[in-house]
Order: sequence, then C-alpha cells, then structure tokens
Amino acid sequence: MTDIDSIAAAYDAGVKEEYNRLASNPLFEAEFELITELMQRYIAPGSVVIDVGAGPGRYAEFLLKRNCKVGVVDVSRKSLEAFNKRIKGVFKRNILFSEIACATNLSFIDSNTADAVLLMGPLYHLIYFGERAKAISEAFRILKKGGILFAVFLSTYNHIAQFYEENRFCCSNDADILMKDVATTVKFQGYNVPQYKCLPEIAVHSIEPQGFNTMHIRNLEGIGVKYTENEMIKYFSPEGKRKLLLNLRSTCENPELIGYANQFLYVGKKSFN
Ligand SMILES: C[S@@+](CC[C@H](N)C(=O)[O-])C[C@H]1O[C@@H](n2cnc3c(N)ncnc32)[C@H](O)[C@@H]1O
Repeated sequence: MTDIDSIAAAYDAGVKEEYNRLASNPLFEAEFELITELMQRYIAPGSVVIDVGAGPGRYAEFLLKRNCKVGVVDVSRKSLEAFNKRIKGVFKRNILFSEIACATNLSFIDSNTADAVLLMGPLYHLIYFGERAKAISEAFRILKKGGILFAVFLSTYNHIAQFYEENRFCCSNDADILMKDVATTVKFQGYNVPQYKCLPEIAVHSIEPQGFNTMHIRNLEGIGVKYTENEMIKYFSPEGKRKLLLNLRSTCENPELIGYANQFLYVGKKSFN
C-alpha cells in the first residue's frame, strides 16, 4: 500500500511551501491560469465541487469566489487547517465540509451529488494501480451524470530525457519500459514521499474505462520545462508573464507535445450513471 503517512507528514510540514508554490515563479502562475481557465469554462457558478487532495486550497478558494459550494478532502490535517483559517466571511458558508481522508475512500460523500471533482494530487502520489483506480471510481461515484473530473498527473517525460542523457550511446529496450510509468519517491520536507508518473496515454487508459469521456489533456508548464534560469528572467515582468502564458497556451494541447511537461491536466465528463 502507498505510504499515506509519509505523504501526510510531508505536506503537514510543507503547508507554506505548497501554498506559495503557485505564486513562486511565472511557470507556476501560468499553471494556475491554464487550469482555472478550463474551470471557468466547465464549472458553472453555484456548482457543487469536491476538491480531493485540496492541499492549502488555492483552487478551492478560486471556486468559492465563483460562488461554488466546495467540499475539501486531504490526508494533510495542517493543509486543511490553513485553508479553513484563510477562508473567511461569506465564502466560509459555502464550504460543504473539510475532511481528513484518503481519495480511495470517500464513503462519507453521497453518490451523484457533485458537479465537479478535482483529483489534483492523489493520482500522482498513489503508486499502485488498484489505489488510483479506486480513487477514480470514487470520483465517478460522487459525480452527477455529466459531471466533470479535473485530474493532474506527473509525466515521465523527465525520466525519459534523463535516461537518454545518461545512456546516449547505448541502445536499450529499457527506455520503452521507462516511458510508460514510474513509481518512485521524492524528498519533500525530509520525508520520502511516494510519487507516480506516467505518460498521458496511460492516464487516459486508466480513466476512460471507468466511464469518462476525455475532453482535454493539457500540458501545464509544458515547453517551459526546458527554459534555463537565464531564459526565465524575461518572463518575470507583467508583459513577460503574459507572453509566457500565450506561449504555453498555444502549445499545451498540441498532440505532438502532450506529455512533454512535468505535469499534465486531464479533464473528462462522467458519461453514464
Ligand atoms: C502538490 S499538492 C496539490 C494541492 C492542490 N490540489 C493543487 O493542485 O495546488 C498535493 C496534495 O494532495 C494530497 N494528497 C496526496 N495523496 C492523497 C490521497 N491519497 N488522498 C487525499 N489527499 C492526498 C497531499 O496531502 C497534498 O495536499
């Protein structure tokens, strides 16, 4: 089983880092834009949204500001505490619940009640296929028919690039294995945090058979993963950020580039009950 305790402990220790992440550089700011512009398109004001793996809740906050009713779930108690402390006044009344729970067991949420579910964390931390399948089936269960799933995955792209760099002169079938998916750990806040990476085709093949129609797959930082620190400098000004977003947006759904990214977003619609 995935070591959920390490995930919870790491994110408990890293609440501030995780909250600041999306404003820490223009690539992460663009990530927020590339995700929220699709939320604006597919999640109507007033919708019921369940954010599973909400962390400190930047996306939940965005949706509350759009008058949505939001339930937040995470394995990290401190992340949820930070979210609840930050959200005040009128928005607080629209928080449906705030629960410490794993994405694989959402039995406290009724079936067919959500207009949208966000799984923007669990699917790249649950390292076993069965656990990811359970998280997706829980999202399917709580969604209404026609409801929308937003899921974020980490791509194996960097593993492939590193593999080729290290094995430039060797011809090996290992690369084919690496390309599909990888379970690994990453050090975060001193903890070994389980991490799962895959190519978009694997993500699609794990979600569609559970009853979803794919609407978008979109690279997040996309081609920006290859920018050097020097190249990034020009994107820190307001005009630079605007250009970067335009660059990323114009390439993020190019079929030939999908997966050429650290992270990609999956958006799909529940097709039956
Ligand atoms: C990198 S943060 C992302 C936070 C937010 N969703 C975002 O996109 O900015 C990943 C979050 O997923 C949570 N998480 C990871 N695995 C989970 C699981 N199996 N069930 C619930 N939450 C989980 C972590 O505790 C963490 O808060």
